[in-house]
Amino acid sequence: MTANELRQKYLDFFREKRHTIIPSASLIPENDPTVLFTTAGMHPLVPYLLGEKHPGGRRLADAQKCIRTSDIDKVGDAAHHTFFEMLGNWSLGDYFKKEAIEWSWEFLTSPEWLGLDKNRLAVSVFAGDSDAPFDKEAFDIWRGIGMPEKRIAKLPKKNNWWGPAGETGPCGPDSEIFYWVGDTAQVPESFNDDNDLWVEIWNDVFMQFNKSIDGKYEKLSQQNVDTGMGLERVLAVINGLNDNYKTELFWPMIQKIEELSGKQYGGTEEITRAMRIIADHIKAITFLLSEGLESSNTERGYVLRRLIRRAVRYGKQLGINEIFTFKVVSVAIEIYRDVYPELHNGRAFIDDQLMREEEKFRKTLETGLRELSKMKPRLMPIPLSSLSVKSGSAPHGLNGDDLFNLYSTYGFPVEMSIEEIKILYKEFNTEKGVGIAELPEDNEKRFLDEFHKALKKHQEISRTASAGMFKGGLADNSEQTAKYHTATHLLLTALRQVLDENISQKGSNITAEKLRFDFSHSEKMNEEQKKKIEELVNGAIQKNLPVVCEEMSFDEAKEKNATGVFEHKYGELVKVYTIGISSTSSESPFSREICGGPHASSTGVLGRFKIIKEEAVSAGVRRIKAVLEQ
Ligand code: SER
Repeated sequence: MTANELRQKYLDFFREKRHTIIPSASLIPENDPTVLFTTAGMHPLVPYLLGEKHPGGRRLADAQKCIRTSDIDKVGDAAHHTFFEMLGNWSLGDYFKKEAIEWSWEFLTSPEWLGLDKNRLAVSVFAGDSDAPFDKEAFDIWRGIGMPEKRIAKLPKKNNWWGPAGETGPCGPDSEIFYWVGDTAQVPESFNDDNDLWVEIWNDVFMQFNKSIDGKYEKLSQQNVDTGMGLERVLAVINGLNDNYKTELFWPMIQKIEELSGKQYGGTEEITRAMRIIADHIKAITFLLSEGLESSNTERGYVLRRLIRRAVRYGKQLGINEIFTFKVVSVAIEIYRDVYPELHNGRAFIDDQLMREEEKFRKTLETGLRELSKMKPRLMPIPLSSLSVKSGSAPHGLNGDDLFNLYSTYGFPVEMSIEEIKILYKEFNTEKGVGIAELPEDNEKRFLDEFHKALKKHQEISRTASAGMFKGGLADNSEQTAKYHTATHLLLTALRQVLDENISQKGSNITAEKLRFDFSHSEKMNEEQKKKIEELVNGAIQKNLPVVCEEMSFDEAKEKNATGVFEHKYGELVKVYTIGISSTSSESPFSREICGGPHASSTGVLGRFKIIKEEAVSAGVRRIKAVLEQ
């Protein structure tokens, strides 16, 4: 059965049950600021679940595009995706548990519809807690249908409760249906939620509560049903495949990636995982770009950016060294040509955005990977003298500060550093003939903890929405502050050139939104001076000058005419940031300062520098507030 047939069958089935078919809403929620993306079919329907009248009536069915990043770590296995389609049937205060459950069963098992083997199915129902009781009604309905008791798991809220989509809103207990993807001969008698061979394919949510702002669950005025059937998963199981990527919704993309990399899907676990991640991410990217989303450093745009970067990174792991993502996009567009014409229509924009982003990131990636591979000798699991390494021993030579330096100096994202370290660690162990050892998980956690500690030490971070929504999002804020750090250095040089070469810094305050810079000067600046200063800074930004960080002794830094602002604060070795040329050149750079960093890796990323205020702070000290506009 093809994906188009399956989608159609589902909708036909519910049309027969007098449902109105409604189109998919956009991935970017139109009126819901509480979520970044449409992660389930219910988002666009929230007002109707709460009681508003839907023009299509009280029974609806749809195929909804969804983006979910909460499971991003699982993407790479056979059944988790960032983008997926959810088939849903909806009762808005109409039918309830009995019809919902019976119809799911009928559609899945009736030979007239999907005809799945009943013996391979199991279900779960809500076990009950202080908010709501055990869902005996659902349990009894399943028993009535003939589901053996051992195949009905009673599970807590963590498993069998859905919603609300944001902090508050409609929610309720659910009943999930699982399909056994393992050997037919070995279908277990009882259902076990921990066994990955039981794959969830369907979820019937009984939305009868509203979670209020104070965390209470209040009965809704109407009882709703929200069903979610994962199209990709069901397509795989009805075609006897235990891997969603082998379905027509992915396989042509995988083939393209095979062709580009010269590697074979299934060759090794790593290759398979990388290919899946690339295919998954590129599909999600294609859909997001088709809705006009652009990559940026905040929220939705940041999720998009991270997806692009990850796809590129895994492409590199497979040995793809050319700009390639747009080639895989073409295949994704073909797969969905008949169902989602917006992909094809948005083609020019998608390609343009993607190429630009990929090109930019490739540069960061090259530098970051080069620097990381220099650290390889420090990945020694234990001192070389006792080379009988057991897997599980830690690479003791490296820590989160190293990763922070990579991040602050080259803009290399920490989660990529960690992924890279895992590869290098394995390589190192293999080269030293100590067998293949995986980087122990507690090491990964240590690196991340140390990284975030280092980050905190250097920055005033405010957590943005994206931090929680996408692993690694936290680092993003500091990307912004790093830019402001660099802008501050450019500003000092400009002030000296325009006003007085003896100007010194008296203090500064940097956030992700603006910079404040205090300096020694006694006169108010006129408009022309301000303009000149902005031009100088923006000129340096336009030239995309490199920002190079080096460690040297304080004396050496002085010899090189580095500006040391708070000399007494530094130890013996200091970091010197040079903007414009390398510190070994005899020419004078645009700026050279002793500074703890972090900084942007080159000035081109800063955006447009603009002074928003110039004022006096005290006698002989003036203050500038400035922003970087993107
Ligand atoms: N909202 C539920 C889910 O996403 C059912 O559609 O699983």
